[in-house]
Order: sequence, then C-alpha cells, then structure tokens
Amino acid sequence: MSSKLTQEATAAAAAVSADRLWSTLMAMAEIGARPDGGVCRQALTVEDREARDLLIGWARGRGYGVSVDPAANLFVRRPGRRDVAPVLAGSHMDSQPAGGRFDGIYGVLAAFEALVALDEAGIETERPVDMVAWTNEEAGRFACGCTGSISWSGHAPLEDFLPVVGTDGVVLRDALEETLAAAPDVERIGLGSEVHAYIEPHIEQGPVLESKGLPIAAVTSIQGLRWFSVEVDGRAGHAGTTPMTGRKDAFQGALRAIEALNALMADDTDTVRFTVGRIEVEPNSPNTIPSLARFTVDFRHPEEAVLTALGDRVADVAAEAAAPCTVQVTQTSRMAPDAFPETMVALIEDAARSLDLGVIRLASGAFHDALFTAKACPTAMIFVPCRDGISHHPAEYAKPEDLAAGTRVLTACLVELANRI
Ligand code: GLV
Ligand code: MN
Ligand code: MN
Repeated sequence: MSSKLTQEATAAAAAVSADRLWSTLMAMAEIGARPDGGVCRQALTVEDREARDLLIGWARGRGYGVSVDPAANLFVRRPGRRDVAPVLAGSHMDSQPAGGRFDGIYGVLAAFEALVALDEAGIETERPVDMVAWTNEEAGRFACGCTGSISWSGHAPLEDFLPVVGTDGVVLRDALEETLAAAPDVERIGLGSEVHAYIEPHIEQGPVLESKGLPIAAVTSIQGLRWFSVEVDGRAGHAGTTPMTGRKDAFQGALRAIEALNALMADDTDTVRFTVGRIEVEPNSPNTIPSLARFTVDFRHPEEAVLTALGDRVADVAAEAAAPCTVQVTQTSRMAPDAFPETMVALIEDAARSLDLGVIRLASGAFHDALFTAKACPTAMIFVPCRDGISHHPAEYAKPEDLAAGTRVLTACLVELANRI
C-alpha cells in the first residue's frame, strides 16, 4: 500500500465497521418505511423528527455534544485537542416522498460512523470532528431544496424560506418551529458557525461507478439548475356539451407547452436535463374541462451560460404554445454550477488510492448540500456506487462493503484535515 496517509488516518479508516454502519442505516430506514421497501421521510415531518431523535440518542450514548441552529441543522461533535473550527461531514436525513434508504442518510451515518471509528481506534484529533444533518435538502415537501445548507452558508437568508408552503399546505416556518420545539434540550447555536472544511459522502445516484466496477469517485463539480412553476389558466366547462372549437382547456394548453419546452431543450449531446415531475389539474374531475393546470420544470446543465440562455426562454415558449390559455411562470429555485477546489478533490483521490480503493473523478448531476457549503469552506464529496444507478426510487440500493469503503475514505480524510492546524 503506497500511503500518503498518516498512520493515524490509516488506523481510523481501518476501524470503520461495515456491519455497524449497515445496522444504523437499516434502523433509520424503518422510520418512514414504505411497503415497497423505500422510505418517505420528508423534511420537518413527524418522521424527520423521529430520525433526529434516534440520532441524538446515539450521539449522547457515545458522549458526543449535540447542537442545532435556527434552520434545524443538527450537529454532533467529537471534540478535538483544541477549541478551533471543526472539520465537518454529513448530508441530509430527509427523503423524497417515494425515496430510497440511502440518498442523504448515508452521508449522515457515514459521518457518524467516522466519529465512532475515531473512538474505536483511540485517536485524538487536533480539531473537533463534527457530523451534520442539513435540513430540507430534497425539496419534495418544501420546494426550496438545500434550505439548511443555503442559510448556513449565507448564500440566502433563512427568512427567505420561512413563508414557503409545503405540498401538504403547512408553512415552513411552522414546521421548523415544531421541529426545534420537539428537541428542547438540544443546545441552540447560531447559523453559520465557522468550519475548517466539509466532506459529503453520497451514493452516486447514477450508473458510472457500478459500470466500471469501482468503489469510489472524487467529485469534481456539481451542475447548476433552474426550477420553474408553470401555471396555465383556461376556462372550465361541461365535457359533453362544450364544442371542441373555442375551448380553453388548461391541461391541453399545458401539454402543448411541455411539448414546446421539450423542443427548446432538445440537445444532441444529451447534456441538458429537463424534467416535468409534478402536474396538477383543477378541478380534476373527469367530465369538466380543466380550468387550471400547474406543472414544475426541473432544468439542469453544467454551464451557467446555457442555464441563462435556455432558462430565460421558458416563459415565452410556454406562453406561445399554450395560447389561447394564459401562462404564468415563476422561477422557484436557481443554483449556479460550482467546482470543488483541486486540493480537496485530490485529498479524496489520494486517500482512496492509499487505502487500495479504485477511484475516478466524476461530476455530479444531482445537487447536494455541498454545493452551498463550498461557498463557506473548502468542500469535497465522495461518491459510492448504487445498484443500476437507481435513486429517488424505493429500489435504491448500495452494497454494505461499498458504503463502508466510502466511509473509510471519509474517515481518513477527516483525520488528515483535523490534524492540519
Ligand atoms: C437532489 O435531490 C437533486 O434532485 O439533485
Ligand atoms: Mn441526496
Ligand atoms: Mn435526493
């Protein structure tokens, strides 16, 4: 083994237990478990609070400090020799409504396992090593994804998100208050605590690592996105008696708009990502012409210039195609693409090689909290393979040994960073 790692980093990585990590993952997967094997643990719900409670109990059982900030980002601390800015690792605990058992929660529990491995190996670090669970990364309930990491990093103020109404009609402000109130004995800290560096482990959510038979990717960058809510207004009427000529059928207008947007986004290089993931029709009755149709647009690309050029045309293209219905387009999210610092990418790559784990560099098609921590501190991501590249789906699966491999790389990197003062 050609090692660029210190002895302590290697020893800590060796103390990672695949079985212990798997058992924490499976215990968490019971919270919000779906009959199809997936998980529904949406942000700031009862299930989210139950998951937080479980994690807080584990952390306290190990003697770690637990704290929470006003965005309900949850931190677990293993102290260092010095009271200086910690090295931070984690991800999110919320899931998609029909989500899997690994997206997000793997990064949180890998970070927790890293803390435990440091204990097991009897290693003291100079800096504290902290675990974080960011609030509302997924945006399945509240459409403002990465709420916790965006407000922590100062990219946008938390106040911007408080009025957002969830799919269940609950306002984010209320769900947040309820979540904070449910853990009254957890220490409260301010938003944006200083951090030395951040690492986020995650399943790849794509097919590349599995197809290459490799356990690790050092993530180089995250593509950007623009989300829109498109509302098409028509005129309701009787389905049997209203002639086809002259109708203003909002759903038919939405269909024409989506077709025109597909044409706008057509890309021979298959780089553009364009998804209509939610559609609602009113009054949603089989024998009434729809008066209103609302659909979401998720548009992604690695280049900011393309996001601007195509994204700026969404409103006009949809309006022209949906006529005589009228169209209102609202941008609900915009995330600029970003690249991680070369030193951090190389740290992951070198640690994987030193641990004899095959590694490649990979860009991320999904967004992650790391996109926003990168605005506040040096940031890196570690990907591990998932079966058939499937994610945001109950069938999501990752092998215990791959999950442990990613956690070993994480643990080694945390020790290296925590001992650099
Ligand atoms: C994250 O969940 C994403 O949609 O990229
Ligand atoms: Mn995720
Ligand atoms: Mn996700």
